[in-house]
Amino acid sequence: MAEVLELTGLGDVGAGTAAEVLERGGLLLFPKLPFALEPGEAGLIDAAVLSGKSKNISLDPATGAVGGSNLEGERLAAMSAMVARFSARADEILAALTPGYGPHLQKRRTSFRPGAIETRALSPRKDDKRLHVDAFPANPVQGRRILRVFANANPHGEARLWNVGDEGFELFAERFRGKLKARAAGAWRERLGLTKGRRTAYDSVMLQLHDAAKFDDAWQKEAPRTALSFPPGSSWVVYTDSVLHAAMAGQHALEQTYLMPIAGMTEARRSPLRILERLTGRPLL
Ligand SMILES: [Fe+2]
Repeated sequence: MAEVLELTGLGDVGAGTAAEVLERGGLLLFPKLPFALEPGEAGLIDAAVLSGKSKNISLDPATGAVGGSNLEGERLAAMSAMVARFSARADEILAALTPGYGPHLQKRRTSFRPGAIETRALSPRKDDKRLHVDAFPANPVQGRRILRVFANANPHGEARLWNVGDEGFELFAERFRGKLKARAAGAWRERLGLTKGRRTAYDSVMLQLHDAAKFDDAWQKEAPRTALSFPPGSSWVVYTDSVLHAAMAGQHALEQTYLMPIAGMTEARRSPLRILERLTGRPLL
């Protein structure tokens, strides 16, 4: 089963250990490491802050703009401040856990997810209740890892529930290897100018793995998995590009995304890029 290292605090893990666990496909879980709200922020923890079109509030680190809400004026400023504070908190968490990553980490969006995880039927591709590894259709990662810091800020005592696949990335990729096509998945997006940056063969393979897993009903039923519960006040850290995960229930999570060049890893050979290059026998960048 997936390795879950439960920790009592940021000082609870030796230098190098956190990175090793993450790179092996494990999760770091802090049952009691809350993202503390400031006075006046409780009213922001509400699905009604979402604009009709978005399921997340998101902060773009390049521009500082906060999108996805219907808020204006002071309440928008308060939301921006709260999400920015979580972003800074996620930096602190990683600085304490994986100091060696510091010079390498590239910060991407911060999100606040005040909506309940969808219970209505979604297309398989969009349904994150199906086991998957993360791949970004419009933002090529070009071989970099996707590292994410989460916190459950639910004020109603509700845990966030995930399933995590028991198979490691290599077994998972081996299983779906026969379904990988040489053609570049999503190349049409690049032609239409919908892709930010060059789409590499790696991006194509990861997107195909994401889709192949979500569309395989039999595998979705049978794949061995472990249920995890992230209580309110908990935080967790995981490479979501290699750990099979499905978000089953919950509301009011915060999340910070980082891209991590494999050159910064303790063991780059454990990266999806190197694993897929070994499996396919070709360079993917
Ligand atoms: Fe995901």
